[in-house]
Amino acid sequence: MKKRVVAINSSKRKKTTYGLLKQIKKQMEDEDIIVDVFNLFDFNIKECTGCESCLRKGKCCLKDDAESLMTEIAGYDGIIISTPVYMNSISGKLKVFVDRTCRWMHRPQLASMPIMFVVTSAASGIKGTIKYLKNISLQWGGFPTDAISRKVKTLLIPVEAGEYNKFVKHLFMHEKKYRPDINQLIQFQVQRVLAEKVLPIDKEYWDAKGWSNQIYFFDARINIVKRSVAAVFYKFLSSRIRAV
Ligand SMILES: Cc1cc2nc3c(=O)[nH]c(=O)nc-3n(C[C@H](O)[C@H](O)[C@H](O)COP(=O)(O)O)c2cc1C
Repeated sequence: MKKRVVAINSSKRKKTTYGLLKQIKKQMEDEDIIVDVFNLFDFNIKECTGCESCLRKGKCCLKDDAESLMTEIAGYDGIIISTPVYMNSISGKLKVFVDRTCRWMHRPQLASMPIMFVVTSAASGIKGTIKYLKNISLQWGGFPTDAISRKVKTLLIPVEAGEYNKFVKHLFMHEKKYRPDINQLIQFQVQRVLAEKVLPIDKEYWDAKGWSNQIYFFDARINIVKRSVAAVFYKFLSSRIRAV
């Protein structure tokens, strides 16, 4: 069956970042993967007001496109996030959207979703931007894979399939064959402890998902050493954080 990928483009002008993304889309479509591009600037996404209603009640107080966009994104098999580097980080439009996904940090929606990044800059800031995007993806429960980046100097280098190999591999892989790394397990344990101790709505969600006693979101290839480290970390953190 064909896989469906959503590419979230956060560059307003359809130039460098969009151009790179279009090249990747074409190449993936040649491999029978459907890539739908969502340009964030085509959506009405308001800035988070900080009311925390999404966290505490599960419902955002703002009326715009963010909620339906989140629902739509979660229905795909994989996600590409593309951004120019602005002041050593992601574009402002993408940050506004990321802020609106805050409840996914407490109640992850993208467990086992492969995610990759497309980042362009004049010269600097790529490493930090990718690191930030990886972090966000982990908080969403997703599975960060590849990152493709270009600077002015390297812009004309064509994208090779090897640059997004891991992403495509995970699109077609059964989750039981995933190999989450130790960072992913630690992030999961942090969210697990928070769900247990902080908000009842999170605990209900985690219990319903069957995650509350898990080492990771799903049964995957995790060796005994990583399992043990994650279990010890959970015990340690759990003993340090008091229930609210
Ligand atoms: C507001 C702003 C901030 C930028 N900050 C950086 C930066 O920190 N480092 C860098 O190398 N390039 C920076 N750039 C350059 C862009 O990242 C670069 O030109 C990018 O490829 C533009 O992508 P686009 O054609 O999709 O807009 C910045 C550009 C803008 C407009």
